[in-house]
Amino acid sequence: MSARDPAPPPPRAPRPGRACDDRPSREAARARAAGTARAWAEISLDAIRDNVRALLGAAPGARLLAVVKADAYGHGAVEVARAAVASGAWGLGVATVEEGVELRRAGLASPVLILGPAPPEHLETAVGHDLAITAFRLDTAQAASRAAARAGREARLHLKVDTGMGRIGAAPEDAVALAQAIRALPRVALEGCFTHLATADEPDLAPARSQLATFRALLRALEAAGVGPLVRHAANSAATLRLPEARFDLVRCGIALYGIAPAAHLRGVRLRPAMRLCARVAHTKRVAAGTPIGYGWAYRAPRATTIATIPVGYADGYPRLAGGSGGVAVGGRRVPIAGRVSMDQITVDAGEVPVAVGDEVELWGAAIGVEEVAAAAQTISYEVLARVPRRVPRVFLDGGRVRAVRTLLGTIPGVPG
Ligand SMILES: Cc1ncc(COP(=O)(O)O)c(C=O)c1O
Repeated sequence: MSARDPAPPPPRAPRPGRACDDRPSREAARARAAGTARAWAEISLDAIRDNVRALLGAAPGARLLAVVKADAYGHGAVEVARAAVASGAWGLGVATVEEGVELRRAGLASPVLILGPAPPEHLETAVGHDLAITAFRLDTAQAASRAAARAGREARLHLKVDTGMGRIGAAPEDAVALAQAIRALPRVALEGCFTHLATADEPDLAPARSQLATFRALLRALEAAGVGPLVRHAANSAATLRLPEARFDLVRCGIALYGIAPAAHLRGVRLRPAMRLCARVAHTKRVAAGTPIGYGWAYRAPRATTIATIPVGYADGYPRLAGGSGGVAVGGRRVPIAGRVSMDQITVDAGEVPVAVGDEVELWGAAIGVEEVAAAAQTISYEVLARVPRRVPRVFLDGGRVRAVRTLLGTIPGVPG
């Protein structure tokens, strides 16, 4: 500031009453406006909480590990984790050490289990942040023990057993010896033993039951060998909802937490989808019959019609393959996608449906199920949800109000508390 600059005005004392009371709603409005200008994912924290309660009700006596890996299947790991823990989830499941550290940095103190294989280079970070490690090889457990000694802490381990998934896990016949060797390591606490079911969402439950029989036999052998007590777990969402014998001490739920049935034939359970992918119409035009639209001129207007351009594309997580048969909802009415989905835009044939620049469009969530989009893209809801990238702002709704908006540039608080 130069000497000639006028002195800054003294800070204004906050006016009592109104000014303070207005702040949350003004901040909420600003946050919402920043998040919802182009394309955004609306995340209902109320739905997350309701789904946590529904899952706890479906698995009485078991603890719930809320699986928030992959940015909570695209929903926003930190906010979802907070909502899940606040409504009764015991702990949090992630795939990588970094995902666990993100939760710790946000202040989440609940148990966190890294469900995937942790590379030896990351073990010290895991131990330092009190993240439980999945172990299925002695060398990993030994490295965790050394990392714990360096960090001056204790490493928590869950032994993973491969009863039929075929990805990671100790062979059941090796598991007792491995558990005993792990228990003999300094600074290591063997806290749990788990397996993962490959077919719990399939119509035929026989293979899942056979995996569970293997797991139960192993648990008996561990007990007989004096290893334990251990937190025993096997159930993902599908098993939690339909296989009571899979629940043991803890259930690990991902997709159901987000309100989506693990498979089409498992729709009976009352879950609330937590994400709506939305965008605002950026442009509309009337076109004559035969007008080509988009890359490859893959669409030609079959009649005089209104084409609306929506600023959301496959780089926002809307699958390119879903364009062929997909539609969007404008003002509650469904209109088909016209032509190819591009990286940042899609076009829809609105026909005579009234549509104007700035109108809100739903890509999936309430009027259109994400399952339908996934089916059109020849994939599963998990993949569609998890692929919504960080550039799409997450607008977190809590009791109908905006709690926060997470953008690529940071999180804007909405209504505090
Ligand atoms: C080991 C493990 N447990 C639980 C889950 C949660 O599965 P779901 O989303 O089907 O509930 C996953 C997800 O892939 C997983 O890898």
